[in-house]
Amino acid sequence: MQATVFFKNLWDDYVKLAPQAEAIQHLFSTTYACPIQNDHVAFRTFARSPISIEKLQPLLAMVGYQPYDEYHFAEKKLFAKSYAHTDPEQPLVFLSELNWWDLHDDCQDIIGRILQKIPDDTAQHPDIFWSGTHWPKISWQDYLLLESSSEYAAWLSAHGLHANHFTVSINALPKLANITEIVKLLHDNNFALNVAGGEIKGTKADLLMQASTLAPEIVVDFADASHPIPGCYYEFAERLPDNQGNLFRGFVPASANKIFESTDRNQKR
Ligand code: NI
Repeated sequence: MQATVFFKNLWDDYVKLAPQAEAIQHLFSTTYACPIQNDHVAFRTFARSPISIEKLQPLLAMVGYQPYDEYHFAEKKLFAKSYAHTDPEQPLVFLSELNWWDLHDDCQDIIGRILQKIPDDTAQHPDIFWSGTHWPKISWQDYLLLESSSEYAAWLSAHGLHANHFTVSINALPKLANITEIVKLLHDNNFALNVAGGEIKGTKADLLMQASTLAPEIVVDFADASHPIPGCYYEFAERLPDNQGNLFRGFVPASANKIFESTDRNQKR
């Protein structure tokens, strides 16, 4: 599958879970009078499952992506890998997976029931990245229980496979654009930002500075009733060149750790 087709389908699915994304894209493209390019797109999934990173990686290869780097998030019980396309103009891809066996027993039970429902041969085609849940709707009670120990587990169990966020490449905007200016523009237009770890995560020394919106709530059907919960968010990334003059293409674990909290219901919207 061509990367352009992959990202078109992915975006069309994502905007249903990120009701603010098109408005922000429009705001940027009119402010800077240029098309918006993506820095990276990120996904969440379950480790040791038919949709684990190991199972999804060959499907990314079908789109032209090869592994680039690996990351561990001990506190959030996550492992992640980043992927780069053979065409450097294409965005990076960031896959994270939940080491669910490290959660409390009651959470493991809920996730164990979810994973039992996923057929072993589910990962066949790149369209899996916007396929949603492959299991029956969870109950509201199970959502709350998961959320109390892993907000990531709750989000993933309710939504399934989608782009969790798209990320605007600030570097691809006209020269004067920078993360501070982007944050101000979002504030001026009343978009709520994720403040965990500060609005701007990372420093020039890290070679990557990021900010993200707080995922707006969308109504999701649970087994018993519908409830509003955080959907997807939009991220903004400014990269700096390393000593050799090459733009940094990695991720900064301390920053990513806080970006994950963009779907946290406990932050005020
Ligand atoms: Ni990201």
